[in-house]
Amino acid sequence: MSLMSPGKDILEDNAERLVYLETFGCQMNENDSGRMLSFLKDIKYIQTNTPEKADLIIINTCSIREKAEHKVYSALGRFKTLKRDNPGLVIGVAGCVAQQNGGKLLKRVPYLDIVIGPHNIHRIGDALREVKAHSRKVAAVRLKDVLDPDEYGRTALWGGVKAFVSIMRGCDNFCSYCIVPYTRGSEVSRKSADIIKEVRELAAGGVKEVTLIGQNVNSYGRRGEDVTFPELLKCAAGVAGIERVRFVTSHPRDTSVHLMDLFGEEEKLCRQIHLPVQSGSDRVLGMMRRGYTRGEYLEKVFYLKDRYPDMAVTSDVIVGFPGETEEDFRDTMGLIRAVRFEGIFSFMYSPRPGTDAEKLPGQLPFEVKSERLRVLQEEQRGITEEKMASLVGKTVKVLIEGPSKADPGEYTGRTPCLKAVNLPLASDLTGTVIDVSVVGARANSLRGAHKERSLLCS
Ligand code: 5AD
Ligand code: SF4
Repeated sequence: MSLMSPGKDILEDNAERLVYLETFGCQMNENDSGRMLSFLKDIKYIQTNTPEKADLIIINTCSIREKAEHKVYSALGRFKTLKRDNPGLVIGVAGCVAQQNGGKLLKRVPYLDIVIGPHNIHRIGDALREVKAHSRKVAAVRLKDVLDPDEYGRTALWGGVKAFVSIMRGCDNFCSYCIVPYTRGSEVSRKSADIIKEVRELAAGGVKEVTLIGQNVNSYGRRGEDVTFPELLKCAAGVAGIERVRFVTSHPRDTSVHLMDLFGEEEKLCRQIHLPVQSGSDRVLGMMRRGYTRGEYLEKVFYLKDRYPDMAVTSDVIVGFPGETEEDFRDTMGLIRAVRFEGIFSFMYSPRPGTDAEKLPGQLPFEVKSERLRVLQEEQRGITEEKMASLVGKTVKVLIEGPSKADPGEYTGRTPCLKAVNLPLASDLTGTVIDVSVVGARANSLRGAHKERSLLCS
């Protein structure tokens, strides 16, 4: 459907409207939501935290696992009565569930007005015009192999000292369990000049830390971009005002020595890497089509850990992949014990429609998957606790992000290795990097005490 409606522009009346936006899923979705808010701001939609007051409600969705998808339908259910009471309310679904279901979603949820996929975020204004001027429902879910000129034409609104900058979209890996290549399309990199321009704009707006994001950032530059991924990181670190640079997510197969060596060369690059292993069994890794062996993975992790003792490595693990035996699972447990990750995100395998793994024999019962997940999480909990406790008594550099949400009397920030730190401060040091003594450790955060004066370096 064309989104260009001729005639009077119903959004040009200068009236302010309110948008309520709920975001599920990964950093890519966070970035898409931020950009959507930015495009909406152009047409006078201001963000509200109260759905009851909103003229527009958007749910930006994730479909990586079945559970994530279910959340979308229960979230939509909450808004049904709002639509009944206010027929002028526009409700939209964005993100991967939108892409996966397309127009079918409009039929399944009759009070829905807009379905908008990840490649169409910048067309939200056109979609709204179509709904408002012609009372039509809109499904904007075309996947494109090239970027539209205005697709990243707005910098996501972050409103803090940290921001995610999208450097590419899509994924060409087709790991056998994963729905992402189907919902986010093939890999396309943004131009380095556009990325660095965005980092400059963010720095000018007070951002101190940027995380370059993509489904597989190590692929950046593969298709003839003018710089490689490590060069891009260096350029971002060179932007005046930027104190810290991070990146996510890395594919272990594509993590190069050049990139790993950059941790020793570029001071602003935080010594922290998320390197999803998924399984410790070569047999399962093969069935997952991950493109590396357990040995190759361990070689890279220990290259990093041996060179940089302060390096924080985190990972993703899937348990209960079709055909995973007890022995395969023991291999995963062995790897977890060998590496001692700072933390892992661990999941039960969830069959996703259209993926190859969905059709594999040997799908495991829920009980087996949940028991393996329990065992894995218990082991990792112990490791994470030990890692957190080992920091007590040490001095860490913390970028203060602002008042703590849980306790407004305190401030919160993060170490270079991404640990959250809460601490009292005599004055508001938001946006500065300070030396902090770690005085206590909890499961997910550290308690700190400010050491003397603030230091402006990282
Ligand atoms: N089932 C369970 N976990 C999955 N992930 C991706 N697809 C699935 C699936 N079908 C996990 C992987 C990935 C993370 C973002 O989500 O571990 O790294
Ligand atoms: Fe999914 Fe694999 Fe691509 Fe990651 S690399 S998004 S797991 S297909």
